[in-house]
Amino acid sequence: MVSYKELGLVNSRELFKGAIAGKYAIPAFNFNNMEQMQAIVQACVEESSPVILQVSSGARKYANQTLLRYMAQGAVEYAKELGKNIPIVLHLDHGDTFELCKSCIDFGFSSVMIDGSHHSYEDNVALTRKVVEYAHAHDVTVEGELGVLAGIEDDVVAEHHTYTQPEEVEDFVSKTGVDSLAISIGTSHGANKFKPDQCTRNAEGILVPPPLRFDILEEVEKRIPGFPIVLHGASSVPQKYVATINQYGGALKDAIGIPEEQLRKAAQSAVCKINIDSDGRLAMTAAIREFFALNPDKFDPRQYLGPAREELKKLYKHKVVNVLGSAGKA
Ligand code: G3H
Ligand code: 13P
Ligand code: ZN
Repeated sequence: MVSYKELGLVNSRELFKGAIAGKYAIPAFNFNNMEQMQAIVQACVEESSPVILQVSSGARKYANQTLLRYMAQGAVEYAKELGKNIPIVLHLDHGDTFELCKSCIDFGFSSVMIDGSHHSYEDNVALTRKVVEYAHAHDVTVEGELGVLAGIEDDVVAEHHTYTQPEEVEDFVSKTGVDSLAISIGTSHGANKFKPDQCTRNAEGILVPPPLRFDILEEVEKRIPGFPIVLHGASSVPQKYVATINQYGGALKDAIGIPEEQLRKAAQSAVCKINIDSDGRLAMTAAIREFFALNPDKFDPRQYLGPAREELKKLYKHKVVNVLGSAGKA
C-alpha cells in the first residue's frame, strides 16, 4: 500500500473549490505513455495550470500499473525540475468495479471514478457508496456518474445516451457522498460524437453539431449549488488534425466534436473537470502520419515521437489557456 501523499500528488478537493470559485475548469488529460505525460507536464508547467493525469483501465493494461504509478510520481518531480510545483492529481478514469478502485487507491492514485452509470439507479448508488467509504478513509476523492454517454466508455459500450435526470442528483450525491458528479448533457466519447444527420450546415456548408443541453446543467446546478460537475467526452475534434490524417493516408469519416465555445461556457459554470483524450490521439496521429509521409527514409522513434509530443503540447496549452481557463491557477 502506498499513499499518493508520499508520491507528491494531491486529491481533487481543493482544485475543484478553486475552479468553482474562479469560474474555470481543471483539465483531465488521459495518458498511456511517456510522450503524452511529458507533453501534459510541460504544457501545464509553462502555463501554470493544475492538472489531472487520467488513467483508464485500458491504459493500465497497456502500460502496466507499476510503471504508470512511477510515471505519475515522475511527473511530480519533472514539474519541479521544470520550475513549477503544479498540483497534480492521479485519477482512475471509468473505474467499473470496487476492486479496481481499491487497487488503484492502494497503488497511489489520489482520485478515482466509479462509473456505475450503466447499472440500475439503486445499484449505482450502492456501488458508488462502497467506493466512497474506502476512498475517503484514505483521503482519496471520488467521481460518480449519472446518465449515460453515447460511444465507448472504456470496456462499457453504450449505444445510445440517456441524459442525466436532474431530479436524481440530490439524492445520489447525498446517499453516496461523492466529491464530484459526471453528467450526460450531449457529449460522447471518441472522435465521432454526432452523425451528420444530427447536425445542421452553416453558410460554408460545414457541419454544425446540436448544442449541449445547458438547460439540464442549469437544473442540476440549481439542485446542488456549488457542487463540482464533470464533463466527459469533451474533445473538440480539431478539423485540421482530421484533414492532416486523411491527407496522409488516414480514413477518418464524419469526425465531429464539441465546439470550443460551448466548452468555454461550460468551464465557467459548475463544470470544474473537463475530460480530453481523443483530441490528443488525433494530434499525435496527425503529426506522425505527416512525418512519415514527408520523411519515408526515417525510422528512429525519437524522430517521429518528438514532433508528435510537440504537437500534443501545443494542443494542451491551447486547451488550458483558451478553453478551460485554468492557466495561471496553479
Ligand atoms: O473515456 C475513455 C477514455 O478516452 C479512455 O479510453 O479506454 O481507450 O483508454 P481507453
Ligand atoms: P473524448 O473522447 O471526447 O476525448 O473524452 C475523453 C473522456 O471522457 C475520458 O474519460
Ligand atoms: Zn469518459
